[in-house]
Amino acid sequence: MEQPASSPAVSSLLITGHMDTCTAINVTRAAIRAARQAGKRIGLVPTMGALHEGHLSLVRIAKAQSDFVVVSLFVNPLQFGPKEDLAKYPRSFERDCEMLTREDTDLLFAPAVTEMYPTPAVTYVNVEGLSERLDGPSRPGHFRGVTTVVSKLFHIVEPDIAVFGQKDAAQVAIIRRMVRDLNMPVAIVVAPVIREPDGLAMSSRNAYLDPQQRQQALILSRSLRAVQERFKKGERCAERLIAAGLDTLQQEPAARLDYLSVVDPESLEPITNVASRALVAVAAYVGSTRLIDNVVLD
Ligand code: PAJ
Repeated sequence: MEQPASSPAVSSLLITGHMDTCTAINVTRAAIRAARQAGKRIGLVPTMGALHEGHLSLVRIAKAQSDFVVVSLFVNPLQFGPKEDLAKYPRSFERDCEMLTREDTDLLFAPAVTEMYPTPAVTYVNVEGLSERLDGPSRPGHFRGVTTVVSKLFHIVEPDIAVFGQKDAAQVAIIRRMVRDLNMPVAIVVAPVIREPDGLAMSSRNAYLDPQQRQQALILSRSLRAVQERFKKGERCAERLIAAGLDTLQQEPAARLDYLSVVDPESLEPITNVASRALVAVAAYVGSTRLIDNVVLD
């Protein structure tokens, strides 16, 4: 039977704004050019989809700081290692579109892999040094894939601002450095980590966790909190701060540590004594799912 026009599903569609979805680069460029010519400030939020409140918080910040918000949704093969989860990366395109429409996104750029990489990439943007820190050793080529695709997105969209989440603290430092080194005319805006009520940092990859692993995953934020508490009590020695975090982390045998580091938030170089700001970053596997989290000590 046909749905009556007044059903909740239909009316919720009617009250939301209109969002254009583009898959072609040239159409995207034309739409954005028109907005820019109308005097609008362009904001970009790059994503790989499987959207959650963390992503939406970025869209809201872009909305507040620009006049025309472009969200890109592209699961970038270049940033996945050969043994990583590219094929099974969570995808929920319809739901993502609904969420973005509700946030009044102006344009969704959702290209196919063949549109972004019509021929295999041989040209890369690599931020040397920083890309080898934190997640670098466990994910060789990952950050090169990120900086390459983000450069491409910046060239396609030419945004005035681009919003990234502090959830991926190394990514933020690396993108900031790329923008500075290559004089890219874009302001990088960083948004705070959005967490579930129990402290777990939101992530598309949380979808991989079964209920038991979902509980076990709390050990990441708990270990960071242990570091934060030790810092508040006056501890400034990185080694001892890390030990406090590891003590907590070891309480969950299901978590397999990759790293827990105290580093400079800009250079990502290890710190021995916390004098000013320090980034405490952790990565651990729960089952086969690799999770990351961080806090900034200030
Ligand atoms: P993705 O993991 O989809 O994340 C897109 C953006 O959302 C990133 O800037 C990320 O830091 C932010 N984000 C994710 N979870 C968050 C949370 N809990 N709180 C706040 N922000 C959060 O990061 C990528 O995609 C890709 O590497 C990309 C930049 C799109 C390049 O392919």
